[in-house]
Amino acid sequence: MTVLSLLPATELLLTSLFLLACILLFSTIISCRPKPPALFPPGPRPLPLIGSLHLLDLKHMDTSMMKLSKKYGNVFSIDLAGLRVVVLTGYSTVQDALVNLADQFSGRPHNPLFDKITFRMGVIFSDGKLWQNMRKLVLSTLHGFGMGRPLQDRITEEVGFLVSQIEDQKGQPFETLPILTPATGSVICSIIFGNRFECDEERFLRLVKMNTEILQLMSSVHVQLLNFLPWLSFLLSKTKIIRNRDQMHKIIADMIQAQDNRTSVSDKLLFKLEQESEMEDVKMRDRNTLCMIMDLLVAGTETTSTTLSWGLLLMSKYPKIQKKVQAEIDQVIECSRCPRIEDKRSMPYTTAVIHEIQRFTNIVPLNLPHSVTTDTYFRGYLLPKGTYVMPILTSVLQDKTQWEKPEEFYPPHFLDGDGKFVKRVAFMPFSAGRRMCAGKDLAKMEIFLFFTSLLQRFNFQCPPGEPELDLTPQVSFIQSPRPHKLCAIPR
Ligand code: HEM
Repeated sequence: MTVLSLLPATELLLTSLFLLACILLFSTIISCRPKPPALFPPGPRPLPLIGSLHLLDLKHMDTSMMKLSKKYGNVFSIDLAGLRVVVLTGYSTVQDALVNLADQFSGRPHNPLFDKITFRMGVIFSDGKLWQNMRKLVLSTLHGFGMGRPLQDRITEEVGFLVSQIEDQKGQPFETLPILTPATGSVICSIIFGNRFECDEERFLRLVKMNTEILQLMSSVHVQLLNFLPWLSFLLSKTKIIRNRDQMHKIIADMIQAQDNRTSVSDKLLFKLEQESEMEDVKMRDRNTLCMIMDLLVAGTETTSTTLSWGLLLMSKYPKIQKKVQAEIDQVIECSRCPRIEDKRSMPYTTAVIHEIQRFTNIVPLNLPHSVTTDTYFRGYLLPKGTYVMPILTSVLQDKTQWEKPEEFYPPHFLDGDGKFVKRVAFMPFSAGRRMCAGKDLAKMEIFLFFTSLLQRFNFQCPPGEPELDLTPQVSFIQSPRPHKLCAIPR
């Protein structure tokens, strides 16, 4: 006796109708799926609905993409639940696209998650004329602050506060990231608002905390899935990310209102935001101002503090390297004065170590997505205007053709035989081309001044009796170290 014969007639009819509907839906989906355009890069054959999502480890997308590139080449395509993406891997491919065809690859694609969070305003996720204006404004604001003495003094002042916080730990184990993030957040806030925020000010700390949460949430698997399954993207508006975005906008608006110490730079930024957005509608202009400030906070806080946190962890893991850096600091920076950016020229070993920290820790492994601004021929393929492109930074920072020991922490990557610092073309933690990190110079100055000042005053080490320090990254949009504690022993 079959199962079907046990069902009453109406149920049998309904079940058959349901199965028929499923088959029809399935075949409609397959037949409706638009064929890839001619000369489109090759890639795995997608399944209905999910495309090739089943081939990806959503927690280690960069590694999955690099595995696929072994089979399909350095330029391949992949269907992420209907979103057709072109993936670029390896130094020469990424360089060719982002630098040699800089204009064509300078677009930002539509993306349900980023579009919802940013309204495609501000600088990071905007495109076209608005992006050009906003990027110019960011660069001139950062340079307007001096990028020389005034900004350096501001960072040095912040270093002083950080050092006393670390002294307060009295050599006991403490987590580094929670105190480094407010310090870098304070530097960027003082550029934007013109005044320093106390690291214990409740409103400032809430802003920093929500910023961190947004980055963590963006990489959670369920949010990524919502992102790739556009028909579910309406659910995004119910997520914590959007609530955090709204609260951050509110705090930023309050901070703008409460500015009592207006400097020419922050005034200029806010004034120009109104002028240069070229938006007639006041509401839209205000929204763009909030998005722009949020962009600078999101891009400029956690990235720098995470790099510094990795740096201290690596120095604790490799005490011989830490000692060599300290010896150079003591030799170049006499009488324990505060390090200055000009000292960098005389500190090849420290400079090499900082570069290797950035290369090895690779904090933005997937980069941000790009798109082509016009139909583009690239390495024998045709990418139609608007194609979503992922230039994978892991594949550049660990490219076997470029690095002697790609998977090891190895400062000689940046030193020649005479111990002089050497630049490396595949050093791209800030990406490359027209969209390259707009805060690169600020980040480099902060990392050098914070790192050298902390190593000048403290020895960092693994807490006694603790297991060995773990260098496995915590996977997130920004790749950070797993929670850990270090001891800072005054030198
Ligand atoms: C170690 C620190 C940092 C790293 C590793 C880093 C890395 C990156 C990367 C990989 C991108 C994407 C580039 C692309 O789309 O190709 C980016 C974009 C950006 N970064 Fe950074 N960043 C850092 C610090 C900063 C700081 C301190 C700021 C200051 C405000 C900043 C502002 C920006 C902005 C505004 C963009 C968007 C540029 C555009 O779309 O035109 N970043 N960054």
